[in-house]
Amino acid sequence: MAYLYSVALVTGASSGIGRALALELSRRGCKVGLVARREEPLRALAAECMSPTCVATCDVTDPAAVRAAHDRIVGELGPLDLCVANAGVGYEVRPDRFEFAEVQHIVGVNVLGAMATVYAALPAMLARGHGQIAGISSLAGYLGLPGNGAYSASKAYLTNHLEALRAELRPRGVYVTTVCPGFIETPLVSKNRFHMPFLMSADKAARKILTALERRRRVYNFPWPMALAVKAARLVPRWLYDWVVARGPVHAKS
Ligand SMILES: NC(=O)c1ccc[n+]([C@@H]2O[C@H](COP(=O)([O-])OP(=O)(O)OC[C@H]3O[C@@H](n4cnc5c(N)ncnc54)[C@H](OP(=O)(O)O)[C@@H]3O)[C@@H](O)[C@H]2O)c1
Repeated sequence: MAYLYSVALVTGASSGIGRALALELSRRGCKVGLVARREEPLRALAAECMSPTCVATCDVTDPAAVRAAHDRIVGELGPLDLCVANAGVGYEVRPDRFEFAEVQHIVGVNVLGAMATVYAALPAMLARGHGQIAGISSLAGYLGLPGNGAYSASKAYLTNHLEALRAELRPRGVYVTTVCPGFIETPLVSKNRFHMPFLMSADKAARKILTALERRRRVYNFPWPMALAVKAARLVPRWLYDWVVARGPVHAKS
């Protein structure tokens, strides 16, 4: 039986979750468009993939370049069944060392880059009345985390924008899935000097994400103990939340 997805596009495929997702998709028989800025790791990944691939380097903060990458992938591999807006950046932006350029960078990639990816894929999906959009957001998007305000806020944006799109697009044949991981072992978190609870390998995360996408999950929060802790943190009074996170591991990083 043919696999659910014939062609997928994955941004941020040169590393971490995106790389693992692209590989897993190829293992399941899907052709994959590989998008990121660095060509060399994308070519190395393409050589590992078990199905046809198309390497399209671009900076997701440039919407015209994202559209060109999308068109090239569709031209080479065929129309998309799945588009994964995964590319993202994250690092501390502290009030005492505030650099506006860092906030611009995080918002540029995580918010505008993700939306540029979604909106590059949408017209063709809507025209066909078929497709699935997935955004790799984060459990961090449910909370304002000290030291990571810009990152948390960028993911809150992505989660909410996808939530709105989900309701708008479903009647037109396009599914939207928001993926909110906890800590996944990738270069993004390798600089963290605190204990990361329930840390999961990128390969395992990719398999879990793909299963959630195949089931057309609306929102996929994982790993579940971390998701539960985040949900509970949303419910406690704000004075208690402030007190706890002020003493928490993220705050203690510097
Ligand atoms: N790791 C975690 O614990 C965790 C948890 C929750 C959510 N997430 C989210 O998961 C996604 C993937 O993160 P990861 O952990 O796999 O990080 P990663 O290993 O650092 O990978 C980030 C990817 O994004 C790409 N990228 C960064 N800036 C880009 C730009 N301007 N244009 C195009 N591509 C760009 C990078 O490729 P190039 O450098 O080649 O461009 C790389 O392939 C991110 O959205 C992240 O926020 C991660």
